[in-house]
Amino acid sequence: DTDEDLQDRPPVITIMGHVDHGKTSLLDAIRNAKVVAGEAGGITQHIGAYQVKTDDGVTLSFLDTPGHAAFTSMRSRGAQVTDIVVLVVAADDSVMPQTVEAIAHAKAAGVPMIVAINKIDKPAADPNKVRAELLQHEVIVEQMSGDVQDVEVSAHTGQGLDALLEAIALQAEILELKANPDRAAQGAVIEAQLDVGRGPVATVLVQKGTLRQGDIFVVGEQYGKVRALINDKGERVKEAGPSVPVEVLGLNGTPEAGDVLNVTATEAQAREIAEYREQA
Ligand code: GTP
Ligand code: NA
Ligand code: MG
Repeated sequence: DTDEDLQDRPPVITIMGHVDHGKTSLLDAIRNAKVVAGEAGGITQHIGAYQVKTDDGVTLSFLDTPGHAAFTSMRSRGAQVTDIVVLVVAADDSVMPQTVEAIAHAKAAGVPMIVAINKIDKPAADPNKVRAELLQHEVIVEQMSGDVQDVEVSAHTGQGLDALLEAIALQAEILELKANPDRAAQGAVIEAQLDVGRGPVATVLVQKGTLRQGDIFVVGEQYGKVRALINDKGERVKEAGPSVPVEVLGLNGTPEAGDVLNVTATEAQAREIAEYREQA
């Protein structure tokens, strides 16, 4: 893509942090929805993908990740498809193993971080302890004269949420994120499963181009033709451009999270690439 082809695209923000530090609650509060309420036992088992439009009309794409220790590879995937990591640290619990792991993922991916010190409403909240412990892991927040933005928030009271969104918007502006929407789509599988009623379904984050109903594609060792696209609100959409997460129906099999989706010119081409990969 030449410079003229590139257009502004929304930032992709991944929420990471230790189990139960309030990642999903924070995203809920931002979306003004109830994601946690719909989860089994309030434990995130997959990467949720959502778009949010701020009061200023800025669109942000969020990926939620599970904090449970068993989900390391999912978190590393989150760090790979993201532009910005929001590291959530509970102010009453401070830095914990999955906090440290998330820092390592963000650093390895070279992705800028914003620290959200959550649960600031709790009597036991000690945000300065969080800052001091982050310093020990070479995350130097602004309050410690570093350059990592840190925001005190509460998913429960809503305190600091606007400041967090502003911090994200500021970081995104610095990154000058662009993509060409007018090319064959390329995206990354966030999660995929075999759905009893709908067949194989993949949540894909489109990264370049625009994915459309009817497009023929290869994704990992699978291929297919887009039968339907469903957005994060459960609505059918005709197309999804850069930074848009979308459910894709019409796969011949279930791909792996992290697989790359590429639109091809013909089905023969898509099948050939998929079969070649399967044999490799
Ligand atoms: P996993 O996805 O399982 O890693 O958890 P999570 O980080 O998404 O945390 P979740 O949003 O499920 O919240 C965990 C618990 O902390 C829930 O009981 C929330 O109600 C509570 N919680 C989250 N944010 C806040 C907050 O700002 N203040 C208080 N007091 N409790 C909070
Ligand atoms: Na939880
Ligand atoms: Mg969660």
